[in-house]
Amino acid sequence: MKMVKVITYGTFDLFHEGHYRLLQRAKALGDYLIVGVTTESFDKARGKLGVIDSLMTRIENVRKTGFADEIIIEESVGQKFSDIKKYNIDIFTVGSDWVGKFDHLNDYCKVVYLERTKNISSTMLREQKRHIQRIGIIGTGRIANRFFIEARAVSGVNVQSVYNPHPDSVAKFAEKWSINAYSDLEKFFADVDVVYIASPHQTHYEYIKSALNHDKHVLCEKPMVLKKSEAEEVFKIAKDKKLILMEGIKTAYCPGFHKLLGVAHSGKIGSIRNVEACFTKLENPENRELKDEKFGGSFFELGSYIMLPIFKLFGENYTELKFDTINGENGLDIFTRASFKFPTGIATATCGLGVKSEGRLLIAGTKGYILVTAPWWKTTYFEVHYENPNEIEKYSETFLGDGLRYEINDFLLQLTSPGVNDFKLTRNESISMAAAMEQFFSEKRN
Ligand code: CTP
Repeated sequence: MKMVKVITYGTFDLFHEGHYRLLQRAKALGDYLIVGVTTESFDKARGKLGVIDSLMTRIENVRKTGFADEIIIEESVGQKFSDIKKYNIDIFTVGSDWVGKFDHLNDYCKVVYLERTKNISSTMLREQKRHIQRIGIIGTGRIANRFFIEARAVSGVNVQSVYNPHPDSVAKFAEKWSINAYSDLEKFFADVDVVYIASPHQTHYEYIKSALNHDKHVLCEKPMVLKKSEAEEVFKIAKDKKLILMEGIKTAYCPGFHKLLGVAHSGKIGSIRNVEACFTKLENPENRELKDEKFGGSFFELGSYIMLPIFKLFGENYTELKFDTINGENGLDIFTRASFKFPTGIATATCGLGVKSEGRLLIAGTKGYILVTAPWWKTTYFEVHYENPNEIEKYSETFLGDGLRYEINDFLLQLTSPGVNDFKLTRNESISMAAAMEQFFSEKRN
């Protein structure tokens, strides 16, 4: 008699009874059960951001049930179809939360939806584990609005309150999003667990200190602070108080950017010798970025983004840094080029608010180069090129919404597992960026 082969798929995060019962019944449908466990990047790509267990832990938990004869990983859309062919599957099965979603596979094998176990899910367990964090936003500008929308896509967080010293602005923002408004900082801190700082750059330092001193974890928009000593000081306070302090450079937390760093460091392009990063945005001359004569200008606004890939690829210990700027009428830089030297290579970081250029990232190595086309800071696609112009490797990755959701999610993961995401933007990288901002300020503003 022919052996009946069954296949099923899932994330199996925080392995629970629902998973166990599903696998038990799936195995009973045939003679041989294959279980596909999703990879972290596949889950991220399909918007499942909060998965807690690593792939290895999830595989191990499936294995321990003893029901799986074979475990495979699921890493892309469309894989189910090819697995059915490849493994000669007779029955595809999945829980009843998916009824109808896989009917198209009936053309290739039998599709069985198994009754889902009631009152249990990984989402439920994740939420119990990670009590809902009440987030308070300091600042009511454009980015604060975007943050609110993106935070909705992340589980385990509730944007609860907003602070701005001006009662009128804060009332308007709070009404728009139906949240609590404060223009008294003490009362604001009393209403939140964690703070997101999105106020003008020069106010970050005091707000960070104040929030940490009220025992709040802090996610601060870039540039976090504008002086090296300030960066060192705030990180020390956070460390001493065992609080999380993270600089919000959203690119640092995006899956596509991580894939890019992985490929760049893989040896494919040999040793990296030159990095060129450019980010320009034509800004309305009436906006703060082009009006604030002390803290406006392109480098303060965009410098963090363009330094990020450079520090990620060469390390943060540059040996030389030189700035060239083109200034607008009020003396603010509308276009800036920062030239770095490192022991193993050189880099240029270019940004503009009043000059438009190609927003690309180019990483040159001894065997080839990587080209990330605009907007590389929302990395979705890049190419690896070699001496032979016909030899091109192409990579892509999803980028959901405005991308801030990855940063928010990583920040929340840091709260439950401190240190897990430190590598994405290290303290030393943030401190070096503050040092570059400080040098820029002393050379170009004083
Ligand atoms: N499953 C089930 N009963 C539950 C939960 C899940 O039968 N109470 C089934 C799903 O239908 C699926 C498999 O278990 O076939 C793996 O599901 P997975 O998505 O990993 O688990 P969920 O708990 O549904 O995860 P999440 O809450 O993250 O969606």
